[in-house]
Amino acid sequence: MPISVRRLTGQDQSLLEQMYDHFVPHKAAMGLPPGDREKRREWLADLRKGVNLVAFVDGQLAGHLALMPGPDIAEIACFVHQDFRRRGVATALMRQAVKEAEEAGLSAIWVLIDSSNDAARQGLRNFGFRAAWEDLREAQYVLPVLKAVAT
Ligand SMILES: CC(C)(COP(=O)(O)OP(=O)(O)OC[C@H]1O[C@@H](n2cnc3c(N)ncnc32)[C@H](O)[C@@H]1OP(=O)(O)O)[C@@H](O)C(=O)NCCC(=O)NCCS
Repeated sequence: MPISVRRLTGQDQSLLEQMYDHFVPHKAAMGLPPGDREKRREWLADLRKGVNLVAFVDGQLAGHLALMPGPDIAEIACFVHQDFRRRGVATALMRQAVKEAEEAGLSAIWVLIDSSNDAARQGLRNFGFRAAWEDLREAQYVLPVLKAVAT
C-alpha cells in the first residue's frame, strides 16, 4: 500500500480538518487534537507557523506531522487517523520530517508524549528516538538529526 508524503498545501487544509474531525479519540496525545471543533481549527492554524507534512493512502489524507523549528532543534507532533494505523504512515511522515530537519540545519527533533502512550513510545524507540527524561505523566523523546538512520 503506497504512502505518499508531502508538505501541506492550502488546498489540503480542509481535508486535514476533516481528518481531525473524525479522529478517534480526540485528546489522544497530550490533550491533542482538541476535542472542540473551533479549538482544533485554532490549533491547526497555529501549527501552520511550522512545517506541516501530510500522508496520503489511496488518495485519502491518513496522517499529519507538524515540525515546529526552534533555533536549533524542532518539536514534532504526529497523528495518524485510526483507519490507517499500523501501516507505516507515522514512520513515513517521520522519515520526511528528518529530511526537513536536516535541510533546515537542525541538530535534533523532539516530541513530548504521555507516559502512558505505549504505541508512540514503541514507535519512537524503533525509529531511533531516546528518552531525554520521563516522569509519571510525560516523557520527552529526542532524535539527533545528523546521526539519524531511518530505515
Ligand atoms: C502513535 C501513532 C502516530 C503511530 O502511527 P502509525 O502510523 O500507526 O505508526 P506506524 O505504522 O508507522 O508504526 C511504527 C511503529 O510504532 C509502533 N506502534 C505503532 N502503533 C502501536 C501500537 N498500537 N502498539 C504498539 N506499538 C505500536 C510499532 O513499533 C510500529 O512498528 P511495527 O508496526 O513494525 O511493529 C498513532 O497511533 C497515533 O496517531 N496515535 C495517536 C496520537 C499520538 O499518540 N501521537 C504521538 C505523539 S505526537
